Amino acid sequence: MPNFKTKKITMPNFPTKFGDSEFLYIASSDKSEYLIKVSQNGEEFFLQVRKKGDVFLVKGEKISRPSQVVFLQQALRDFRDLCKCEVLFSNIEPQKMKNKKRYRVLKDIDFFTREFKQDREIWIEVGFGSGRHLLHQAKQHPDIEFIGIEIHKPSLEQVAKLCDIESIDNVYLLDFDARIFLEFLKSNSVGKIFVHFPVPWDKKPQRRVISHEFISESIRVLKIEGKLEIRTDSDRYFEYCLEEFVKFKKTDLSIHKNQDLDISSKYEDRWKSQEKDIYDVIMTNHEESNAKHKIKKISFDVFYHFNMIRDNFINITKQDRDSFLHVEDIFTINEDEGMLKISFGASAKNERAYVVFLRERVRYFPDNILETKANKRAHNLLNDWLGEIANQRTAHE
Ligand SMILES: C[S@@+](CC[C@H](N)C(=O)[O-])C[C@H]1O[C@@H](n2cnc3c(N)ncnc32)[C@H](O)[C@@H]1O
Repeated sequence: MPNFKTKKITMPNFPTKFGDSEFLYIASSDKSEYLIKVSQNGEEFFLQVRKKGDVFLVKGEKISRPSQVVFLQQALRDFRDLCKCEVLFSNIEPQKMKNKKRYRVLKDIDFFTREFKQDREIWIEVGFGSGRHLLHQAKQHPDIEFIGIEIHKPSLEQVAKLCDIESIDNVYLLDFDARIFLEFLKSNSVGKIFVHFPVPWDKKPQRRVISHEFISESIRVLKIEGKLEIRTDSDRYFEYCLEEFVKFKKTDLSIHKNQDLDISSKYEDRWKSQEKDIYDVIMTNHEESNAKHKIKKISFDVFYHFNMIRDNFINITKQDRDSFLHVEDIFTINEDEGMLKISFGASAKNERAYVVFLRERVRYFPDNILETKANKRAHNLLNDWLGEIANQRTAHE
């Protein structure tokens, strides 16, 4: 992470332009941490300044990173020169960057919210690992669009590379938590969802991919006669799946033991060599689900005055059924403006962001908080808490 250390910083008046960067404002916390908002190359992000002893450490702030590290290095160099810093250590000079290969099939969640057309039937594989099953299916069914979801980066890169080498053009790969991804898809659009050898998580069942919520979302996105297929070597996971599946109406189940498929995955080979039993639970959907609106970004439709928030600020953690909100810190920009640093969402995926209170509006920064169910619940927790704080002030007066 690019950074430099300095004994001296001569802060300018904000906003100011220097070099390629515009420094918009500075926000400070009670913990001797400063955030400087930078605008550069059409992107906005923070530089962070922290004082340790008599030395300042200046670096990029983690939540609001720019898309390219060279933008951050440039902003740090501009800030260094603008503030006449006496540098003790630095790693912010431009270097010849190794060109990291971008794979055609690797997509991010923004692609699925903005560009993905969903005009062909989709099949999904959750936790594809070595990708043997996913690629086999994609080659067998060229008219189907495949989405492979994985959280293990080396597997994503490995399978992306294979797709490039073998010119497979009906696969998208996504680094995302599969427990949330289905929320981004249209209702009744998916033919099959494969979950092969999911991690059983016997000690932390809340981390399992299969849950009441996941089955319910699967039913929503599956076409009539669409199938959710679980394959596992774990007796306990098999029994758990059965218990969860039978709770749903308008579906039917088929169960198989030690059934051979056309292709055997890496894990399957391992369990077979240990002579373990392998179970399939296949749920077929018979329900047509209501259409769902596309997931948008969350924004504030209520205005709060920052001075009310600042006067009554405490660090809090709020929890509802399966979402949480943690307000970590407060930063002041000026008398009327400032920000809260928060983390929120669900245990499956938590977000970190700033809530920025400006004179004319309140917004999230970075402005990329998607309206998933967990985020909406956390956003409501935040609004309730901000409302309480604003009323406390009114009651005092
Ligand atoms: C036991 S491996 C099985 C891999 C592959 N299906 C096979 O049969 O060889 C489970 C895979 O699921 C992935 N995984 C676990 N939790 C996940 C989640 N919430 N979302 C997406 N992938 C997940 C893991 O990274 C791992 O690659």
